[in-house]
Amino acid sequence: MRRYLVAGNWKLNKGPAEGAALAREISELLQGRKLKGDVLVCPPYVTIPAVAAVAQGDPVLTGAQNCADQDQGAYTGEVSPAMLSEAGARYVIIGHSERREYQRETDELFVRKINLVHQAGLKAIFCYGEKLEQRQAGQAQAVVKAQLEGVLPQLESADAYNTVLAYEPVWAIGTGETATPAQAQEIHAFSRQVVADLLGAKVAEYMRILYGGSCKPGNARELIGLPDVDGGLIGGAALKAADFVGIIDGAEAAAG
Ligand code: PGA
Repeated sequence: MRRYLVAGNWKLNKGPAEGAALAREISELLQGRKLKGDVLVCPPYVTIPAVAAVAQGDPVLTGAQNCADQDQGAYTGEVSPAMLSEAGARYVIIGHSERREYQRETDELFVRKINLVHQAGLKAIFCYGEKLEQRQAGQAQAVVKAQLEGVLPQLESADAYNTVLAYEPVWAIGTGETATPAQAQEIHAFSRQVVADLLGAKVAEYMRILYGGSCKPGNARELIGLPDVDGGLIGGAALKAADFVGIIDGAEAAAG
């Protein structure tokens, strides 16, 4: 019913030359395969054109990791969603925990960014997830609910077509520690219920909710095979073509 999405978040890695080489390697490994889902790589801004020249669908798409909250003007250092679209991006990651933490980004900013992403005809991947101390205090569901409530109802238009969610427990990002299948399924099912309450049952039924946090070839099939997990947002393992394709293989196996 929901096509999986396996998305690579390259973070601050891979300039244009290395990025194009990695995208080419991934495309070659997937060549001729009819996939049951979607594959996306999100390089740094300056690498997007080089990667988009290689990854324009069939099956690898190109995305961005961030965007401005304005569409043009005197905003030094910023890049608008419309520019990203022109450069070949089809998705934009918004709300990653690293941006919440290091750039102090807030719900209000996420709303402005996602609205512009949608206006530019791009899809948003909205990330959320609790920190370790919040989980330990039994607050995981409350935190996740507040993060979704702080953004989704404020959007001008959000539906299962233009918006993807990515649950990323902060304690699992880059740590080698993954959520157990039970932990992931619990929060994903809970998130879907929150989306149903905020945007309606139909949207919740079709909206893809990715899992992120130390996803790798060895655990991808089990995680992505969970009833409410519709793919993965991949950091470290997205930087090696064989590992990234190994995760796609897991998603394929999970899709039956
Ligand atoms: P990781 O990162 O796969 O390296 O844990 C995931 C992410 O930050 O999106």
